[in-house]
Amino acid sequence: MGPRNVTVVGLQWGDEGKGKIVDALARICRYVVRFCGGANAGHTVTVGEETFAMHLIPCGILTEGVTNVVGNGVVFDPPVALEEIDNLRARGIAIGPENLRISAGAHMVMPWHKQADVLSEQVLADGKKIGTTGRGIGPCYSDKAIRSTAIRVGELLQEDAFRRKVHDVATVKNKIFSALYDAETLDPGKIAEEYVEYGKKLGPMIDNTGAILRKAIASGERILFEGGQGAMLDIDHGTYPFVTSSTVTACGVPTGAGVPPSAIGQVVGIIKAYTSRVGAGPFPTEQDNEIGETLRERGREYGTTTGRPRRCGWFDAFAVRYAADLSGVHELALSLLDVPTGLDEVKLCTGYRVGGAEVERFAPSAMTEAVAIYQSLPGWSADISSCREFDDLPAEAKDYVDALEKAIARPITFISVGPERTQTIVRQTQIEGLE
Ligand code: IMP
Repeated sequence: MGPRNVTVVGLQWGDEGKGKIVDALARICRYVVRFCGGANAGHTVTVGEETFAMHLIPCGILTEGVTNVVGNGVVFDPPVALEEIDNLRARGIAIGPENLRISAGAHMVMPWHKQADVLSEQVLADGKKIGTTGRGIGPCYSDKAIRSTAIRVGELLQEDAFRRKVHDVATVKNKIFSALYDAETLDPGKIAEEYVEYGKKLGPMIDNTGAILRKAIASGERILFEGGQGAMLDIDHGTYPFVTSSTVTACGVPTGAGVPPSAIGQVVGIIKAYTSRVGAGPFPTEQDNEIGETLRERGREYGTTTGRPRRCGWFDAFAVRYAADLSGVHELALSLLDVPTGLDEVKLCTGYRVGGAEVERFAPSAMTEAVAIYQSLPGWSADISSCREFDDLPAEAKDYVDALEKAIARPITFISVGPERTQTIVRQTQIEGLE
């Protein structure tokens, strides 16, 4: 048996800094696999002077010797992926079947999905809008569930059948668009030809990725599963309906990658030192004030995918404890600890009150009415961006890390103090090969 696989998942509302940790762990893994979401994700990795923002291509693409896999649970958007591939190639990253495989079973985001995403949001009243990224994610997963109007990546390889399918599905979609929204209709012939061209470029990388991964498991090769979004956006376990449309917790790894649950391995939960949320929905620790503003500016909290300013607030340990339990998290990676530097105090939410009574068991549904109960700790003012050992940190920052560990009941084994690969403190991780 080889070393345990690793699963990296976000424990908040996404944007926790998963890209950086996936990049750091990729060098000890043979495969890096996306299993959920699609081009709604934005994973950022900084290498020296260069910053890479990945949407669909796994972050392992920056590491030589890694085969990156877009699993069947992802909704795959060919033009976005090809643009990302072209951009990476232009920056000197070679990409081909030797380092990128796309599941033939992944569902394909089609132009009508993006159109439906935008139109369906437009007609909702304020307060009811989800605040989606407009990338067609929900409509594509809806078609996956509906089945008859879905198209999978593998279908690109059968050109004539694909053309016929596009024609049939677009006819249905056009009827819906004109009847419901009085919207412009789409040209099926044009779409089919565009996608056939995408298929020619992507063809060599389209594969039965589940079979590849199960073989890797049998040979003891190590896999890293790269989560997208964060637990609070999980379709089943997040703040529904203000969620995304896939299973983004570690529970999504087996179905989304086509591997047995035992392949999940060591689960690393990513948290950032405060909370951010982009899009609508409850957020009990939100600071719609100067503190939120400070966190947004210092943390450059603007959407990687949409550029929208993110809502910011204090760390919600009550919610994160739930998320960590749900994904079976073994250890935590704390990111952006440098951002709260300079605040007089740092607060973490340890529970909620609803109607004056303390909530006993966390449930996302409680968030709407929740009033956060806080533990307040003194802040720190010294610059921590060059700290490389836990003991280099100011006492107040160490106390904050200790308080987070206690509240979440898991060890924090990675602490990120800046975007660079080198700006990471590693301690007592259970991931073999890194200790
Ligand atoms: P959708 O995934 O585009 O349908 O958007 C649904 C909700 O999830 C919106 O609130 C989005 O802002 C949010 N969301 C989706 N993907 C991400 C992500 O990668 N990071 C943060 N928020 C996301």
